[in-house]
Amino acid sequence: MLNIGVLISGGGTNLQAVIDGCENKTINGEIKVVISNKAEAYGLERAKKHNIKSVCEKEEEKIIEILKENKVDLVILAGYLKIVSPRLVSEYRNKIINIHPSLIPAFCGKGYYGEKVHQGVIDYGAKVTGATVHFVDEGADTGPIIMQKTVEVKQNDDAKELGKRVLKVEHEILTKSISMFCENKLTVSGRRVYIND
Ligand code: GRF
Repeated sequence: MLNIGVLISGGGTNLQAVIDGCENKTINGEIKVVISNKAEAYGLERAKKHNIKSVCEKEEEKIIEILKENKVDLVILAGYLKIVSPRLVSEYRNKIINIHPSLIPAFCGKGYYGEKVHQGVIDYGAKVTGATVHFVDEGADTGPIIMQKTVEVKQNDDAKELGKRVLKVEHEILTKSISMFCENKLTVSGRRVYIND
């Protein structure tokens, strides 16, 4: 069973999906610590409700220390609104997984987070959007892609409505991706991630 560390900044619905996945055993892992860079993040409450250690920490060096102290094998960025440092990326090469609410490489990178992503999709007139789970490298939303799933953009969608449908897909593919990682089913070769099902 792998030790998981989750980094958050907000409401933590993706964190909740990972908590539920570990508790119902679809994920063969245990969340050892939840770290938020925002003290008011509701995700910290979610962790407390499930007796999971929760810490508010902004300093990247301290975050790395906390992850090591808790013997974390896999780091999940679940609504974490900071670009992680090259130091963290190299400490956990291909062991940091991020969820992004669009079909990377579209509508991602600097400035594309939360509802801004969905507003960008609507303003552009895209017909399909979705969610992406990927390994984290030194760039913003640029690491090797593990899973993607599409969501249709409806004519009368606003960013909030579209965001709700995308969020459901995020929860689904994030937990599936973590589950596969914990079962050692993912192999990274350059930019490609092979799933050994
Ligand atoms: C989600 O859309 C996630 O993709 C983005 O932040 C939003 C909120 O996530 N990174 P959560 O509810 O805090 O998990």
